[in-house]
Amino acid sequence: MVTIYAVNVTKRPSLILIADDESFMRSILRDILNQDGYEIVEARDGTETVSQYQRYRPDLVLLDVIMPKVDGCSVCAKIRQMAGGKHVPILMITSREDEATINQAFKVGADDYIIKSFIPAVLRYRIKRLLEAENNRKIAEHLNRLDRLNLIGEMAASIGHEVRNPMTTVRGFLQFLGWKKELENYKAHFELMIEELDRANDIIKEFLSLAKDRAMDFKLLKLNDLIREIFPMLQADALLNNCCIETPLEDVPAVMLDKPSIRQLILNMTRNAIEAMPQGGKIRIGTRHCAEKVFLYVEDEGSGIPPEFMDKLGTPFATLKETGSGLGLAICYRIVQRHDAEIFVESEYGKGTVFTVRFNIPEQ
Ligand SMILES: Nc1ncnc2c1ncn2[C@@H]1O[C@H](COP(=O)(O)OP(=O)(O)OP(=O)(O)O)[C@@H](O)[C@H]1O
Ligand SMILES: [Mg+2]
Repeated sequence: MVTIYAVNVTKRPSLILIADDESFMRSILRDILNQDGYEIVEARDGTETVSQYQRYRPDLVLLDVIMPKVDGCSVCAKIRQMAGGKHVPILMITSREDEATINQAFKVGADDYIIKSFIPAVLRYRIKRLLEAENNRKIAEHLNRLDRLNLIGEMAASIGHEVRNPMTTVRGFLQFLGWKKELENYKAHFELMIEELDRANDIIKEFLSLAKDRAMDFKLLKLNDLIREIFPMLQADALLNNCCIETPLEDVPAVMLDKPSIRQLILNMTRNAIEAMPQGGKIRIGTRHCAEKVFLYVEDEGSGIPPEFMDKLGTPFATLKETGSGLGLAICYRIVQRHDAEIFVESEYGKGTVFTVRFNIPEQ
């Protein structure tokens, strides 16, 4: 499982998951973190920590080692296997000081370790340092992707024009020849050639739209309204393919959205969900929120994504479909990035996939 794009370069409060079974400890940590302006979600045992992580995708996890149900080290190992969990900073916090526990914590992927009798300032600096390091990593990764995309974009923009002109000429001649009486027997061939040319032209057009940054018109909008608006269209597409769509929409606050792009985002993700279930199945397009974040997710019970393909998601022209252009997710990536949001993918090969986009609620 992999996070595909995770970019949050603005100075928004980070979301921290506090996982501790002692309510007293949680309240101490909450007080300290609140003072520093972090947003907080909490969990009281190991199982809840995993589900809260999945639900909220926090920017950092403060993880107690000894917890009921599932212990902290097992939770840490589990998070490392989950979407976005490979890099999320995990700071273990515990009363146990023995070497074996400390070794085990680092072995399962903890980034740092602090004993419960900590001085608040030490905890603050460690959290700050971990968040900064992760943010720098995200920026580097983002720039790297952007470089690749820009390079492809520049190349496409310069050759796109040169390729489309002769294509228009060829299309014109094919149409002209297709009308000729003496070539009537080949009419179907001409039509097929024209269709293929149109398809090639559509791909170039779509790719060029990815390369150039269209002006966005951001407005404070409710995701639920947008989903309801395009639902009939999505439903029609789904029904034609033996799929049904459920929309578990929670009452989420408005966020800054460019309506056409978000429609496109939902459409591309839903199309992929439909295409992942050739025998039909259920798709859930839902929303939820916590503190200052709103989540949009598209979940299917389709083929899942092969693990070795996860790192390629969002790269232009990366596709596993015979007739796919591999641009759908690259466009989603661009849209998410321009909304200063993040996108995560969780997929189990053979079982299904969930794409989750996390938006920031604007400050009042
Ligand atoms: N929900 C999903 N379930 C399974 N595989 C998926 C899902 N979403 C994306 N993929 C995989 O990621 C690949 C890339 O998706 P993307 O939408 O970018 O391109 P595409 O669907 O192949 O073509 P198009 O440009 O027409 O969208 C797909 O070919 C598919 O293998
Ligand atoms: Mg697609």
